[in-house]
Amino acid sequence: MKTIIEPFRIKSVEPIRMTTPEEREAALTKAGFNLFKVPARDVLIDLLTDSGTGAMSSEQWAGIMRGDESYAGARSFERFESTLQEITGFDHILPTHQGRASERLLFEVIGGPGMVVPNNAHFDTTRANAEHSGCEALDLPIPEAKDPASRYPFKGDLDIQALEALIERVGVERIPAVMITITNNSGGGQPVSLGNMRAKSATATACA
Ligand SMILES: Cc1ncc(COP(=O)(O)O)c(C=O)c1O
Repeated sequence: MKTIIEPFRIKSVEPIRMTTPEEREAALTKAGFNLFKVPARDVLIDLLTDSGTGAMSSEQWAGIMRGDESYAGARSFERFESTLQEITGFDHILPTHQGRASERLLFEVIGGPGMVVPNNAHFDTTRANAEHSGCEALDLPIPEAKDPASRYPFKGDLDIQALEALIERVGVERIPAVMITITNNSGGGQPVSLGNMRAKSATATACA
């Protein structure tokens, strides 16, 4: 495998508090083994999520100063909107402050009792928002995903046959969307192949 160096310098460092195994065990026990209840100050290495762990680039920091904070009609929003339209091809762009907030809005529109939303594996906040709306959040991982000894390189893939069987069983009217989470967070952060994403889209489009 070819190794390259990281093509950037990290400009700021944030100290973290060292903890002992005994302190970590005590913090976990006190939280009832619910990671959302562990205070961040007691966490030495955060494996709960990758959210908020990346360093900002100098361009991102500079962007804060260039930002147009006008209450309405901000130039920054126009740049944001046109860039996302170009990347996604979607006409309508609605910014939210966090992923879980987007999911909340999405499921308010597409979810509800009687609906089924398949996914390679639902991320915890996606499942919570889907189920809160009353719909069923269904995980359809490939069999290799459940085999820790498997060396298959794309264990985050969605099981296309299981998706076809689901569409056959419940009908397209009850499936408002087919989701795919990349990387597959709840499936151990495993990667998803481009071929699997294309097959998923083809199956969903053919049935729509
Ligand atoms: C699929 C998915 N949904 C939601 C989230 C949560 O994002 P946020 O912390 O911005 O709410 C994540 C974060 O990893 C995610 O991968």
